[in-house]
Amino acid sequence: MLNIVIAESALERVPKTIWRHPSVIARAKSLGKEPSELLLDRSYHHSAMNTLPKAEKRGRPDIVHMCLLNALETPLNREGGLRVYVHTWDDMLITISPIVRLPRNYNRFVGLIEQLYQKGAVPSKGETLLKIRVETLQGLLRHLESSVVITLSVLGQTSTVEKVVKPLKHLHNPTLMIGGFPRGHFSEDTILLSDRVQAIDPEGFDAWIVVSRLIYEFEKQSGFPSKRWERWGKR
Ligand SMILES: C[S@@+](CC[C@H](N)C(=O)[O-])C[C@H]1O[C@@H](n2cnc3c(N)ncnc32)[C@H](O)[C@@H]1O
Repeated sequence: MLNIVIAESALERVPKTIWRHPSVIARAKSLGKEPSELLLDRSYHHSAMNTLPKAEKRGRPDIVHMCLLNALETPLNREGGLRVYVHTWDDMLITISPIVRLPRNYNRFVGLIEQLYQKGAVPSKGETLLKIRVETLQGLLRHLESSVVITLSVLGQTSTVEKVVKPLKHLHNPTLMIGGFPRGHFSEDTILLSDRVQAIDPEGFDAWIVVSRLIYEFEKQSGFPSKRWERWGKR
């Protein structure tokens, strides 16, 4: 089983300090919601965000959306070989059932996550697909009991996707951590929780590119493409 943690993600509800900002009020009115119910989104709250600390790492729910679509729609996930977790920059943790089918449409995804923040779990009836709770990255990693935690960062030790992923297929429950933020770097606390910090290229990429490359490499290294044909009785 491979664990992917989208860590320090730029996902949160609009903080109280900017509830009364005109851009927040206007957005809330247009959606018929309270400012407190909205997800912080730089596309709509850019001017309000100027007053927030660490603003460059916040207000990008689209990054989480793209990462999740890229991870959950893979053959590895369909075969039950993947668990994906979203840790947010303010220490909330979203746990995700591998069978969830997330909305492809961004606005619908935002609506779903706003509902998740309100109710704590969705759907409220039947099998839970998404859950949210307060949890530190340290708490999550303790629970995962991974044999290795590798953090991906452009500041890490020089490597390639292949070299990072190759040893993982022999290890129990490995974890890969990718930053769910647009700019800046992991906090020192996150780095200290990692066994290794590795760079897969001299240039930085969007988080979802890194997620999909890591998963595809893991599938290749584990022989997934042919195993799937065999299982489907076509080879
Ligand atoms: C948009 S980047 C965050 C910005 C940061 N300056 C960077 O490039 O690492 C989002 C995440 O993708 C991963 N990432 C992007 N480029 C990478 C690279 N060349 N090597 C390793 N990880 C990378 C990291 O986990 C990073 O936190």
